[in-house]
Amino acid sequence: MDMLNVALPKGRLGEKVYDMFEKAGFECPSIKEENRKLTFENAELGIRYFWVKPSDVAIYVERGAADIGVAGKDILLEYKPDVYELLDLDIGKCRVAVAAPADFRDVPGRALKVATKFANIAKAHYDSIGREIDIIHLNGSIELAPILKLSDVIVDIVETGRTLKENNLEVIEDIVPISARLIANKASSKFKGEIIGKISRGLASQISL
Ligand code: PRP
Repeated sequence: MDMLNVALPKGRLGEKVYDMFEKAGFECPSIKEENRKLTFENAELGIRYFWVKPSDVAIYVERGAADIGVAGKDILLEYKPDVYELLDLDIGKCRVAVAAPADFRDVPGRALKVATKFANIAKAHYDSIGREIDIIHLNGSIELAPILKLSDVIVDIVETGRTLKENNLEVIEDIVPISARLIANKASSKFKGEIIGKISRGLASQISL
C-alpha cells in the first residue's frame, strides 16, 4: 500500500500537532520513543510521519516528498509555496509585528532599516503604506538588531511578548495574525484525497469554535 507521508514541524508545536493526528485516529506510538529517529510509521494505517525544521515543512509538501504537513501561516505568507491550505488548526497562535526600542521615532524621508527573517511580509506591509525601507535579512535573534543599531525596527514573530520586553522593545504595529495550517501537496490531494479528507475532518472536529 502507498504510504501517506506527513511532515510535522519539529518542536513543541509539532508535538501538539501529532497529538491531534493521534486523536483523529492516526496514531503512531513509536513516535513517542526517546530517540533521534526522524521517520515513524504505522504500516497498518498506511501513514508515515517525519520531523522537519518548521520552516522546511512547506518545501517537502510543495515538492511532494510529503503529501501533507503542518506549517505556520508566516511561512506560507513569506514563501508562497504552491500547496493547498486545507485547515486552520487554531494552535501555534502568534502574530507578525513591527517592533522597535521604546524611544524610536520614525524619520520620514529616510529609508527605514528593517531587520527580519520575513523580507517578503515586511516588503508587502511597507509597500502598502508607501514607506521606503532597507531590508536587513537575518536568520534569528532578530531582536538584537535595533539594540546594536543594525536596524531601526524589526519585523518578527511575537507570541507572549516576553522576548521584546526583556530586550526593551515594544510593538509599534501588528501586521498579521498567525496560526498553524494543515497543507497538502496538489497532486496528492487528487490521488490520496480520501485519506487526506479523513485526516482533515478528524483534525477539524477537534478545533473548538
Ligand atoms: C521567535 C521570535 C521571537 C520569539 C517571540 O523566536 O523570533 O524571538 O519567538 O516569542 P515571545 O513573544 O513569546 O517572546 P524563535 O524561538 O523562533 O527563534 P529565532 O527567531 O531566534 O530563530
